Amino acid sequence: MALAAALLAVAPHPLLAQAPARTAQPDVIYVPTPHEVVDDMLRLANVHKGDVLYDLGSGDGRIAIAAAKKFGIKAVGIDIDPQRIREANENAKKAGVTDLVEFRQEDLFKADFKEATVVTLYLLPDLNVKLRPRLWEELKPGTRIVSHQFDMGTWKPEKRLESNGRTVYFWTIPAKKK
Ligand SMILES: C[S@@+](CC[C@H](N)C(=O)[O-])C[C@H]1O[C@@H](n2cnc3c(N)ncnc32)[C@H](O)[C@@H]1O
Repeated sequence: MALAAALLAVAPHPLLAQAPARTAQPDVIYVPTPHEVVDDMLRLANVHKGDVLYDLGSGDGRIAIAAAKKFGIKAVGIDIDPQRIREANENAKKAGVTDLVEFRQEDLFKADFKEATVVTLYLLPDLNVKLRPRLWEELKPGTRIVSHQFDMGTWKPEKRLESNGRTVYFWTIPAKKK
C-alpha cells in the first residue's frame, strides 16, 4: 500500500495518463450578433483603413469578416469552439476575405490581442468585467472597444448606441492609464 502511494506520488496513474485531455468549454454560448448591429458596432468604433480588429469570442466570424470586407482591414477572430472556427473559415472563404482574416481556436482569456486597435465583444457582463484588467493593461492607448449588449461595470462607456433593440457600448483606452 505504501509502495503504491509512493509510486503514485512520482508518476500519474496509467489510466489518468491515457485519459483524453478535457475539451475547453465556452464561457458563454454562441448567439450571433444580427448583421445590422454588426454594422453599427463597426460604425460606433469608427473602424477605418489601417485598423486591426479582434473579435474575442468570434462565433461564425461575422464581425471580423464584415470589417475586412467593408474596410479592407486585418481582422482576427478568437473562439474556443472548433465548430465555430470551421464555420468562420468557411464564411471567410465565401466572402473572399481569407487574405485579411484569421480565426484562432483559443481561449480569449489567454489569447494575445495586443496588436488590436479595435476590440469587439459580445460576451456576458461578468466576462466583460473579468476581461477588463487585461484590456486596460495590454491594449495600446487609443484602442477602441465596442461591446454588444453588455457594459463593463464601473468603467463607464464614452458612448452608447441603440441598434435594433440592442445597446452597443464604446470605450477608448486612455493615453494615461490610472
Ligand atoms: C455570444 S457569441 C458571440 C459571437 C460573435 N462575436 C458575434 O457577435 O456574432 C460568444 C462566442 O464566444 C465563444 N466563447 C465562449 N467562451 C470563450 C472563451 N473562453 N474563449 C474564446 N471564445 C469563447 C463562444 O464559442 C461563442 O462563439
